[in-house]
Amino acid sequence: MRILVAGGAGYIGSHTIVELYKKGHTVVCVDNLYNSKLKVIKNIEKIIGTNIPFYKVDCCNKKKLETVFKKESFEAVIMFQGYKAVGESVKKPLEYYRNNIDSALTILELMDKFNIHNVIFSSSATVYGKNCKSPIKESDNSQCLNEITNPYGETKAMIERILMDKAKSDKTFKAVILRYFNPVGAHESGLIGEDPNGIPNNLMPYIAKVATGKLPYLNVYGNDYKTKDGTGVRDYIHVVDLAIGHVATIKCFNNKKTNLWIYNLGTGKGTSVLDLVKEYENANKLSIKYKIVGRREGDIDKLYCNPKRANEELNWQASRTVNAMCESSYKYEFNNKISGGELCQKTKKLKKK
Ligand code: UD1
Repeated sequence: MRILVAGGAGYIGSHTIVELYKKGHTVVCVDNLYNSKLKVIKNIEKIIGTNIPFYKVDCCNKKKLETVFKKESFEAVIMFQGYKAVGESVKKPLEYYRNNIDSALTILELMDKFNIHNVIFSSSATVYGKNCKSPIKESDNSQCLNEITNPYGETKAMIERILMDKAKSDKTFKAVILRYFNPVGAHESGLIGEDPNGIPNNLMPYIAKVATGKLPYLNVYGNDYKTKDGTGVRDYIHVVDLAIGHVATIKCFNNKKTNLWIYNLGTGKGTSVLDLVKEYENANKLSIKYKIVGRREGDIDKLYCNPKRANEELNWQASRTVNAMCESSYKYEFNNKISGGELCQKTKKLKKK
């Protein structure tokens, strides 16, 4: 199948393009490069050994995006585009609502106009809110929807709702909603991976910067949670397994029985912050300095999924170990000398204040 990948130069989009090619699919990629670089496209091309059509287009710009729909032919769209920093979304809610909802609606309207019926949407476990009990099933979110803790999560839930309503109104429209747990790690080549701007907010990219000496130590946010070692437990999933999960959903589009699918993509296993630190040390033969500090606002003790539906219906399973996640994360960080040389200086400055 030929697929339009919106936000294809980003962390999950780039890995998904690689796995799509592995299975014989082809893509057209659009990205505004707001939070990614053209070099990512070059590196994807190195991995897959062929060029991909790329357009630097903002998906909120209907006129420009329409030129891509006119020029290229494809049968499905994967929507990775969107802002994704939880903390930033709390500070800039209007930008998050405008960008994420607007880009999704623009794509969906163009799909309608050009008779493209198949879409895969990049959603998040954040739609389960803070009170869903792990292991979380896909049906659990109906009672948790009003407990979402940030505008980023709200945009994911709203786009899910838009897709559900469209699927109800139009039986030819087919939508797959994928709720990611905590994607980490990088492609085995070390050519593509996660490259957040500035000081990372998420755990694994932060550990990677401590491992390569760009940040002095990790702050462990709380060791008094109701978990085995007191630190937060999450369902970390290797980004390559996640990417393969997207490819596995393509077969849904041939299913005539229904036209909307929702899947958790996770391992179903919980890993604590200290477990992850230990695995990172073992996998890469180095030591990670850390300090236990207070809890981070909005965090919960445990969040992991029940992946049974995806395992059974898609015949997909996340198989890569936490060790492999840590090894690939370090390899990417080390190989790419990615942004962060300035980070230690920034933290020093912050300390002085
Ligand atoms: C967050 C988002 C989720 C997003 C995911 C990306 C929320 C509610 N969820 O999940 O939507 O998809 O990031 O992977 O915000 N930790 C530390 N020190 C750090 C950073 C994190 O101890 O420097 C701890 C946290 O307290 C938590 C765990 O590590 O227990 C994971 O945190 P993080 O990587 O930020 O992911 P989530 O908050 O689970």
